Amino acid sequence: MFKTILAHVGKYKKFAVLAPLMIVVEVLIEVSIPYMMSVIVDCGIGGAPLTSKTGLVVQILLRLGFGSKSGTELIVSTGLVMIVLACLSLAAGALAAYFAARGGMGFGANLRAALFARIQNFSFRNIDDFSTGSLITRITTDTNMIQMGFTMALRMLVRSPLMFVMAIVMAFSINARLASVFLFVAPVMFLLILIIGMSAHKRFAAMFKKYDAFNTMIQENLIGIRVVKAFVRAEHEKEKFKVANDDLKNASIFAEKLIILNNPIMSVSVYTCILLVLYFGSRLITGGQMELGDLMSSITYIQQIFMSLMMISMIFVMSVMALASMKRVCAVLTSEPEIRDDEADEDLLVENGSVEFRGVCFKYNKNGEKNVLDNVNLTIDSGDVVGIIGATGSAKSSLVQLIPRLYDVTEGEVLVSGRNVKEYKLKELRKSVGMVLQNNLLFSGTIAENLRWGDENATDEELRHAAQIAQADAFITSFPDGYETDLGQGGVNVSGGQKQRLCIARAILKKPKILILDDSTSAVDTATDAKIREEMRKLLPGTTKIIIAQRISSIQHADKIVVLDDGKINDVGTHDELLERNEIYREVYTSQQSGRMEA
Ligand SMILES: Nc1ncnc2c1ncn2[C@@H]1O[C@H](COP(=O)(O)OP(=O)(O)OP(=O)(O)O)[C@@H](O)[C@H]1O
Ligand SMILES: [Mg+2]
Repeated sequence: MFKTILAHVGKYKKFAVLAPLMIVVEVLIEVSIPYMMSVIVDCGIGGAPLTSKTGLVVQILLRLGFGSKSGTELIVSTGLVMIVLACLSLAAGALAAYFAARGGMGFGANLRAALFARIQNFSFRNIDDFSTGSLITRITTDTNMIQMGFTMALRMLVRSPLMFVMAIVMAFSINARLASVFLFVAPVMFLLILIIGMSAHKRFAAMFKKYDAFNTMIQENLIGIRVVKAFVRAEHEKEKFKVANDDLKNASIFAEKLIILNNPIMSVSVYTCILLVLYFGSRLITGGQMELGDLMSSITYIQQIFMSLMMISMIFVMSVMALASMKRVCAVLTSEPEIRDDEADEDLLVENGSVEFRGVCFKYNKNGEKNVLDNVNLTIDSGDVVGIIGATGSAKSSLVQLIPRLYDVTEGEVLVSGRNVKEYKLKELRKSVGMVLQNNLLFSGTIAENLRWGDENATDEELRHAAQIAQADAFITSFPDGYETDLGQGGVNVSGGQKQRLCIARAILKKPKILILDDSTSAVDTATDAKIREEMRKLLPGTTKIIIAQRISSIQHADKIVVLDDGKINDVGTHDELLERNEIYREVYTSQQSGRMEA
């Protein structure tokens, strides 16, 4: 998991190296400063010779010729050295923070890009697996969490252990007996923090689940805000929001409650330790076994030790939180797109628009019991017009989605132009199959931009031509801005029937060999519907057209009509044949005829 995620640090690796390097400089200086303080107190003020002190810092001071200086001179020159070092440490610290931030931000951006790219490659089935809300949480909150964790790791992961070790070495070298006080307090504290971190992990994982639910709720509400208003469900939605929001709040408090215990535990430990050191230290000093300056620096080192321990515990908490996020991000990054074309033949082209289903069974959920499609056998010749009719839920949409491999069959095979669809590259297959989905969408942008989804390089002339077939040209040109009319998000400022015609035009622009219209004229009046069919027959003669419809009039003139019933093919024939022999078809026909008479 770490490998998958950290692979996205990418070109920001140099920052990930520079930051800890700066930290090492900072820590080394920080650790030497309290010792110089004790030199000032003991030698500068107390008058002890510099040679009575030991350690690397003193050796350096002696080399600099500080040994021969008088008290005041020693104070001033050591003080100056301290100021220079403090400035250096400040600069190193600032640089480290800068590098860590650059590295973290870059890593976050890479991670988001990788997630987005992976989601774009998702098959319909992958999309069914993750809720949209959950994907949003993963790209935003979770990625932020990981980014923060990473930035913090760059700054603290080297700093805290290094500081910890160095401060212990210094404290023990000054006075081992005094420093051993720490050995009694630290383990207790460490254990407590460990326990907290372990139980916090579970609570944070639960919190992120609530985040998912919250985002899903918001997203659903915002997309469906018009429906909410139409049904006057605002109060009900507010109630739902309150529940989701409260759930999230409670889960967060439940998790944070543990984490805030960290600070008091830390403070109690530090002050206990300082009190003990002061107590034992003062006894050592009165017994003449220790200098005042040494006690002072001992206390500073003890503080440094605890500071670094505190940071280690913070890293621990942070990584606990980041870990929960990493798991969730990793789940997306490693979820394999169900539908692949690695082994497909690069050069294989779809020659014609014939389609064949051979013993096709299909279910959405692999573990589901019942097949949605059951042993479907059907041959469609290139250039044919095929109508599909059947009750709602009879798997009409499911059937046609198998042709451009939006889903893969569970059993059997689907052939296009005489070849199994799996033999084609997805790009080639989907280029040849134009599909107007049942729940189609337009995107923000102009009408022309939306139509060009079908063919990026289409000329204005081609745009018009496609729109004319779909009976969309007339209403588009009636807009003041014509083809440059801006569609709102999701195409809000056109009517339902206009939207459907734009979607048809967009699919026609692809010049597909197979054109599938899934209930795509349900919101278009019968006369216009008839015109669209007429134009398609005249202007797209070679294209195989598969039309799913609820209205018999939409498919009446098809070469072949398929009657689907509960996932099985009930009958195939022309309008007249079916009218004569098929009960389901006749029933639908008579009900629609009588409906028309009454109207
Ligand atoms: N993404 C999905 N995941 C799981 N089950 C699904 C999914 N889509 C559809 N189904 C189920 O598959 C069955 C067939 O659905 P399908 O959408 O193919 O019917 P349809 O004939 O197109 O209906 P309609 O006329 O209402 O569009 C239904 O029982 C439905 O519940
Ligand atoms: Mg359908």
